[in-house]
Amino acid sequence: MCGIFGIINQNEKILGPTLIEACKRLSYRGYDSVGCATMDEKWTIDLRKDAGKVEEVSQKLLFSEMKGFSGIAQLRWATFGAPSQVNAQPHFDSAKELFGAHNGNVVNNIQLREMFLKEGMTVRSTNDGESCVHSVEYFIKRGFETEEAVRRATTLLEGDYAFLLARKGEKKIYAVKKGSGLVIGIGEDGNYVSSDLPSLLFLTRKIIRVEDGEMAILEPSKVTIKKIEDGSIVKREVEKIEEEMESAKKGGFSHFMLKEIYEQPKVAMDLLHLLNASPIIEKFIEKLSNARNIYFIGCGTSYHACLFGAVAFAQYSKIPVIPILAPQFIAQYLPTASQRDIGVFVSQSGETKDVLRALELAKEKKMQALGLVNVLGSSLMKMSDFYLPLACGYEISVPATKTFINQSLTFLYLAAKMGGMDTSLLMDFPKAIQETLSKSEKTVREVIPIIKNYDEYYCLGYGFTYPIALEGALKIKEVTYCHCEGMLSTEFKHGPLSSVRENYPIIFVVSKTDIPVALSGINEVSCRGGTTIVISTEDERLKLNSKKIIAIPPCNDLFFSLVSVVPLQLLAYYSSVEKGYDPDFPRNLSKTLTVD
Ligand code: AGP
Repeated sequence: MCGIFGIINQNEKILGPTLIEACKRLSYRGYDSVGCATMDEKWTIDLRKDAGKVEEVSQKLLFSEMKGFSGIAQLRWATFGAPSQVNAQPHFDSAKELFGAHNGNVVNNIQLREMFLKEGMTVRSTNDGESCVHSVEYFIKRGFETEEAVRRATTLLEGDYAFLLARKGEKKIYAVKKGSGLVIGIGEDGNYVSSDLPSLLFLTRKIIRVEDGEMAILEPSKVTIKKIEDGSIVKREVEKIEEEMESAKKGGFSHFMLKEIYEQPKVAMDLLHLLNASPIIEKFIEKLSNARNIYFIGCGTSYHACLFGAVAFAQYSKIPVIPILAPQFIAQYLPTASQRDIGVFVSQSGETKDVLRALELAKEKKMQALGLVNVLGSSLMKMSDFYLPLACGYEISVPATKTFINQSLTFLYLAAKMGGMDTSLLMDFPKAIQETLSKSEKTVREVIPIIKNYDEYYCLGYGFTYPIALEGALKIKEVTYCHCEGMLSTEFKHGPLSSVRENYPIIFVVSKTDIPVALSGINEVSCRGGTTIVISTEDERLKLNSKKIIAIPPCNDLFFSLVSVVPLQLLAYYSSVEKGYDPDFPRNLSKTLTVD
């Protein structure tokens, strides 16, 4: 998803390297275009932008030489208008007196562009960021001062967004927040603003979080926050950030994805310590025990954790839970929802629009909203009645790995606790992941030649491993660009079996208790010439009946299935690297999806 960054200093200086660094730090959000604009003491605006990666575009356009007292950088992830030079941000107004950039979506962009063209404005792109700049121009043309024009611009712009704007003749950056993230950094010789915290921490640890419906006016030596509605001043304390950014560096791994896969034992242990000590757990349990209906709600990987959680709740606490994709919750369950129901909203970023929309509507129905969040300070955290943190640290790579583990582990912990089980058994879970990582890597790599010539295949699971198969298939799709379909293994014979031919690969993820069911499915494939790859325990029957086993080292049944996601994460990662792709930033994808 797009990212914006702004800097304002007292004196003119080379700003290029700072803008490039900020772009790099925002790049984990996913993007296809990059641009920077600076303004110097003579009020000259230097705007450079293009489609492509930060490294390529900044080298081609010599971002490093850009100088001035203020600058705005933007990474764009295309929603309105194709990725191209002209649609890249920042944008100018008609007279090139203003420049600005946005993050998020202006949903009435097409209508606004028509209106601006009728006004005689110069509209150069089809991108909605340009509409933010023209909206300010619209009010400046009507005689308003910049601050008032920025405030009024929000009355034209529909959607969820944040934008930055600067004007010739003013030593200020205006920043608006309506639905997308915005954080201010307070520096020694100047001030900064960005879509998120990690991109500010190389400059300062003093920050101010801007809330929805607020705007900030940044000057070199002060920052003023105002309510957009009436322009009244908001007093907000500066926060000191103690968190280390070490986790946002690759630490010797070739990619963040691999580093994050290998961090799983540690983050799982951190989470278990936190859950054992958390006073919120009892509150969570009390709420869940008294609810009429419980919904686990999320998207993508977070939804797969919901599915895993629902199986864990049924098996261990004997409580039925409805796992549901956030937008489908609105269609399928919202009409009958009431204050007796609970939604557990799950999101790594805490900013996924599909999830926040479901949460907003659930709250209108007076449903109780609990959150599982990784990004503290996120919208989900603020909107939940109360939340449990996932304690994973920054997850930089677009494919979620360690957050899936900790989301699922949280559900497992709650299910075990509510079922009166001994949760200390879970303390062996981190060790099981560690052993699986060290013992399965070699076998996983041996599977790559079996699958590498196929651009579509299946990953099948059953019961507890059904969500794991879905998650493994999503990971493979995401980073290898192959269609790997995740499916309930027993469904395979109801149609997809027809795709099996000589050597066609099928991955089976099998929990110890489901070996007999799996054996039928495995043989239905192998007797038709298919190649079966099994992720399970080193069982003699499985060994005899399948082509290849990726063995999970012996561990407790309570978490065996969850551990079996690890070889699938590794398989996705190594297959992606083998194909020459960048698994951290797969094409077309974004880490934080703040759009419909
Ligand atoms: C996971 O690998 C994906 N990048 C994606 O499916 C993701 O889980 C989904 O977009 C939801 O994100 P969230 O957890 O931040 O809400």
